[in-house]
Amino acid sequence: LEIPVLIGRKRDGGELSHDELLAFVAAYVAGEVDDAQMAAFLMAGVIRGFSRQEAVALTEALLASGERIDLRGLRGPTVDKHSTGGVGDTTTLVVGPLLAAAGCQLAKLSGRGLGHTGGTLDKLEAIPGFEVDLDPHRLHDQVERIGLAVAAASQDLVPADKRLYALRDVTGTVASPALIASSVMSKKLAGGAEHVLLDVKAGSGAFLEQVDAARGLAELCVEIGRASDRHTAALVTDMSQPLGDAIGNALEVGAALAVLRGESTGRLRELSLALTAAMLELTGEAPAAAADRAAHLLDSGAGLDAFRDLVQAQGGDARVADAPDEVLPAAPVVREWRPEAGVITRFDGRRLGELAASLGAGRQRQGDTLDLAVGLVVHGRVGDEVVADEPTVRVHARTEADAEHVLRQLPEAIALGEEPVAAVPLVHARVG
Ligand code: URA
Repeated sequence: LEIPVLIGRKRDGGELSHDELLAFVAAYVAGEVDDAQMAAFLMAGVIRGFSRQEAVALTEALLASGERIDLRGLRGPTVDKHSTGGVGDTTTLVVGPLLAAAGCQLAKLSGRGLGHTGGTLDKLEAIPGFEVDLDPHRLHDQVERIGLAVAAASQDLVPADKRLYALRDVTGTVASPALIASSVMSKKLAGGAEHVLLDVKAGSGAFLEQVDAARGLAELCVEIGRASDRHTAALVTDMSQPLGDAIGNALEVGAALAVLRGESTGRLRELSLALTAAMLELTGEAPAAAADRAAHLLDSGAGLDAFRDLVQAQGGDARVADAPDEVLPAAPVVREWRPEAGVITRFDGRRLGELAASLGAGRQRQGDTLDLAVGLVVHGRVGDEVVADEPTVRVHARTEADAEHVLRQLPEAIALGEEPVAAVPLVHARVG
């Protein structure tokens, strides 16, 4: 295998065959291709683009590096969802319980936050006692019993993606439709579910900012899923502003619980219902019935009961479902940002995610320990007028100095104007 020749071909805009890509990735996993070579190849591909055939081959190559989970013994429709990553995006904590309450079976293997995006495992660890490391038997048994488990993906699940993702994160090579699609879909195919729903984000808080690019990514994911006989669909959704009000681990668990407890309207609730309904449609329900059922599961409290069962099953303090404020950790310093007047014209979602991370809610490097209590609560969305006696942002910090630092930076992340601007739609498109 002439690695420099293959890298050169991609650099010059050429294509690699199916077998060449499989061999390239296998050689990387075996230590015969080093990080410099892989990074050069990835950068050439980010700039030149990969074909659809290359995206499919990359997915197979990643999948071939590890084990697959076998969910065939489960009785219900097996389902899986994945977001391409966002800010304040905590839909799994709402959608997972709703789907379990609907009789679906979801073995959700999640990740940790990196960079400006949050991770479901970190959020769940804000619940005292919650364990995310489940061995395969426990995972299977729990899903069989209560329809839902949320656990850390083991080292054996698509190990090539773990290494590639870490390399991409530090070499500016995340933002490629083919690389994101193969990374996401290899994990979904290895996860074993029959029905796969993607939430592909577009906007300043997402990896792909343009809606058209996100739609292309959604189409690619759906094509890859269908090529492997999975019922696959995607929603392309707005990440030009934080999804829910909360950014930060315990704060986001609180936000998800507020939705499940019927205390919160707004975009997190709306998108969670849209995703739940889209998944029920994938499993065969008619669209109107699926939307009604999703709303009923939420409003009846069935979703909240399923959340409580999840926490109980994974060793967490289940009182969190009924008294979140008593159980979740709270930051000692809360400061308010109140702009004088104006209309919110733009959010820099990435910057907001980074500011929350700078408080300790996210990692600057892999392996950093998080402060699960801190973060931001952002009131208002694009098009909203700032209300004089309502703070626009509450900063939840460990120290006064941390809060001060973020308060100084907030004007860079939230732009205010005088003219009215149109609200941004939450769901841009549906694919599949
Ligand atoms: N999420 C993933 O799992 N992989 C990517 O490449 C980007 C987002």
